[in-house]
Amino acid sequence: MKTIKYELTNGIATITFDEEGSPVNTMCAQWQQDLNEVTAQVVKDKEAIRGIVLASAKSTFFAGADLKALMRNQASDASAVFVDIERMKKNFRTLETLGKPVVSCLNGAALGGGWEVALVGHYRIAVDDKKIQFGLPEVTLGLIPGASGITKMTRLLGLMGAQPYILESKLFNPQEALELGLVHELVPDAATLRPAALAWIDRHDGAAAPAHHPWDDKNYKMPGGTPSNPKLAAMLSVAPAILKQKTRGLYPAPEAALAAMVEGAQVDYDTALRIESRYLARLAVTTVAKSMVNTFFFNLNAIKSGQSRPKGIPRYTPQKVGLLGAGMMGAGIAYVQASRGISTVLKDLSQDKADAGKAYSAKLTQARVDKGRMSAADQSALLSRIHATGQVADLAGCDLIIEAVFERRDLKAEVTQDAEPLLAPGGFFASNTSTLPISGLATASARPQKFVGIHFFSPVDKMKLVEIIRGKQTDDETVARAFDYVQALGKIPIVVNDSRGFYTSRTFGTFVMEGVAMLGEGIPAAVIENAGIQCGMPVGPLAVLDETALSLSVHVLDQTRADYVAEGKTYIATPGELIVERMVKEWGRNGRASGAGFYDYPIEKGAKKNLWPELKTLFEKPDAPWDITDIKDRLLYRQAVETARCLSENVLTTVHDANIGSIFGIGFPAWTGGAMQFIYGMGMDAFVSRADALAGQYGQGFVLSDEVRAAIKRHQPVY
Ligand SMILES: NC(=O)c1ccc[n+]([C@@H]2O[C@H](COP(=O)([O-])OP(=O)(O)OC[C@H]3O[C@@H](n4cnc5c(N)ncnc54)[C@H](O)[C@@H]3O)[C@@H](O)[C@H]2O)c1
Repeated sequence: MKTIKYELTNGIATITFDEEGSPVNTMCAQWQQDLNEVTAQVVKDKEAIRGIVLASAKSTFFAGADLKALMRNQASDASAVFVDIERMKKNFRTLETLGKPVVSCLNGAALGGGWEVALVGHYRIAVDDKKIQFGLPEVTLGLIPGASGITKMTRLLGLMGAQPYILESKLFNPQEALELGLVHELVPDAATLRPAALAWIDRHDGAAAPAHHPWDDKNYKMPGGTPSNPKLAAMLSVAPAILKQKTRGLYPAPEAALAAMVEGAQVDYDTALRIESRYLARLAVTTVAKSMVNTFFFNLNAIKSGQSRPKGIPRYTPQKVGLLGAGMMGAGIAYVQASRGISTVLKDLSQDKADAGKAYSAKLTQARVDKGRMSAADQSALLSRIHATGQVADLAGCDLIIEAVFERRDLKAEVTQDAEPLLAPGGFFASNTSTLPISGLATASARPQKFVGIHFFSPVDKMKLVEIIRGKQTDDETVARAFDYVQALGKIPIVVNDSRGFYTSRTFGTFVMEGVAMLGEGIPAAVIENAGIQCGMPVGPLAVLDETALSLSVHVLDQTRADYVAEGKTYIATPGELIVERMVKEWGRNGRASGAGFYDYPIEKGAKKNLWPELKTLFEKPDAPWDITDIKDRLLYRQAVETARCLSENVLTTVHDANIGSIFGIGFPAWTGGAMQFIYGMGMDAFVSRADALAGQYGQGFVLSDEVRAAIKRHQPVY
C-alpha cells in the first residue's frame, strides 16, 4: 500500500493514512485501492483485533477528495464515480460493523472527504486547538458530501440541526465539535491522542454491546424526528422554495444535498448512502461543479500560496500604516487594519474629520460588543491602535502610507508629495484610486518604483478582494509587500498591470453599460434587471449603477475624454455611457445617494425602491424585440470578453487572478467559476461562436480579436 500503513500489535489494528509524496492525505485512486486492501486485511485479522485506531502521519488528519481527478471527469464518467464511491463506503461500513471499537485520532484538519473518514470512527478524539477546522465544504465547491457525510451528519444532528453544516458548509473547530457531539473527547496535543484512544478501547473490552454507530442501535431515533414528523414536514415543504430563492436554480449542489438529506432520512441507513452516491455521481461530472472546484479550490489556493507574488522577496509584516483621508474608504481600511493588530495613523484635513473616520470603527465594534461577540477590552485595544489626526507630521515612521482622498489627480499628487518624505526608510506608498492610472499618479512621487495601487472595495470590512496595481515603474519588492499587506488583512489579493479602470472597474463598467445600452434599445428596464438576477449577478446593472453613483460614472467619462484629448485623440463614448450622462446632466439623477437614479428611493420608512416610471416613456419601445437568453448572455459574455481582452493586453497575467477578481470584485456569478472559467467551462469553441454571433448582432463589445482568441487559448488550464 502506498497511502495507508497498517499495523496489528497487542490486538490494536492501527490504520495510518500517509499518502506517499504528498503533504496531505486525499481520497486518490491509490488510496481507494489501499482502503480495499486494508479493509480486507482487517476482516482477516478480526479474531485478533480488540480495537481499530484511525490516524494520520501528516500534520493534518485528512484533506478530502482528489479534486484534480474530478477536474478530468467527463459526463460519461458518472456511473464510474457511483461505483467508486459505493465501494469506498462499503469499506467504511465493513470497518464500522465489524463489532470492534473504531477510534478516529484527529490530530489536525479533517475537511470534506477527510471529515467523512473521521466519521468512520465510533469514537472521535481531537486535539484541542482552535485553529483546527472540521467540516464539509463540498457545497461551496458545487459538490455534496457523498462519502456518507450527508447520511451521518443528518443522523447525528437531525434534519434541521445538520443543515448549516451541509447546505451552508459551516465549519467547526474541535471545541465546537465537542459541543455538537461530533467529537467525544479533546486532548491537549497529538501525542496524547493514541493513549486516549487505547483507554477508550480498554473501556469497551468485554462489554456486552459491540461498538457501533448510534443509527446501528435498534433504539436509535433521529434527533428532531424524521420527515414524517408533522412539525418537520411543514418546514420541509417550504425548504426547497427557500433554497431556490437563494440559488435561483443556478446551483445544483445545495438542492441535491437537501434532497439527499430528506430522502435519506426516510429510508434505512444503507439505502440512504446509496441515494447520496447517486446525487454525488450526477453532480461530479457537471460543468458547474468542475468550474467551482477550479476556482474556489485551485485558483484560491494559487492566490493564497502566493503564485502572483514576485518571487524571492522576504516576507513583509506591516507594523505602522498611515491612511490619508478618513472618508468612507479610509475609515474602512483603518478598521480592518486595527482589527488585524496593525498600528494605524488616520489622517484627514482636520482632527474632527479624522475623528469621524475613527468613529466608524467604534460603531462597528460596538455592534459586536452589544451582541456579546467582542469584549469591551478587545474593543478598546482595537480603537487604541487607530491614531486619528489632522497633522500630516503624525505619519512619520509609517512603513506604508495609502492615500484615499478625493478622486482628483491634482489633490492626490499634492498629498503624495506631502506624505512620502515621512515614510520610514524602505517604506512604500500606495493609492486607493479606483480609476486613475497608477503610472500617472506615480509621476508625483519621488520614488515611483515604490509607488503601487492598492484598490480596496466598498464596504471595506465586508469585501474580501483587493486589487494590487503595478504601475509602469513599480518594482517587484513593492508589489510583493503590497501582496503581504493585503494577506495580513486576511483579504484576497490579485495583481494586475496598470490600465484605465485596472481589471475590476473596467470590466464592471462593461456590465453596467451593457445593461444601460439595452435600456437605450427600448428593452424594458425591469426585464434587464431581472435578467441580471437570473444569470446570477448579485443585482441588476441599473440597480448597481445607482449604488455606485451615476455621477461617478459621468465623472470618469469626463476624465477619460480629457485624457484622450491630452493625448491628441478623441474618446467615443458607448451608447450606455451617453445615456448615463443624460440621466445625470439632463434629468439630475445621480444615483441612490441623492435619492434618484434609475430607481426612485422613497423616503418613507420601510418603503421599497422602484424603477423610475419615466424610464418607460423615455426609453421603452413596445415593439422592440427582445429575447431573455440574449439579454442574459449579453450581460455575462460582455464581461468575459473584456476579461479575455485584459489577459491579452497583459492587464491580467493569470487566469486565477481573472476568475477570483471577477467573482469577489464584480460579483460575476460563482456558478461559472469566474469570467475566464465561464469560457473554459463551456468550451472555447462554444464561447467563441456565441461571442461572434453576439458581435454580429450587438456590436463591438463582443468582438474577439485574433490576439484575444490566442490569449484565451494560451491561458487554458490543464488538469
Ligand atoms: N467609494 C468607493 O466605493 C471606492 C472604492 C474604491 C476606491 N475608492 C477610491 O478611494 C478614494 C476615497 O474615496 P472615498 O469614497 O473614501 O471618498 P470620501 O469622499 O468618502 O473620502 C475622502 C476623504 O479624503 C479627505 N481629504 C481630502 N483632502 C485631504 C487631504 N489633503 N488630506 C487628508 N484627507 C483629505 C476628505 O476630507 C474625505 O474625508 C478615492 O480615490 C476613490 O476613488 C472609492
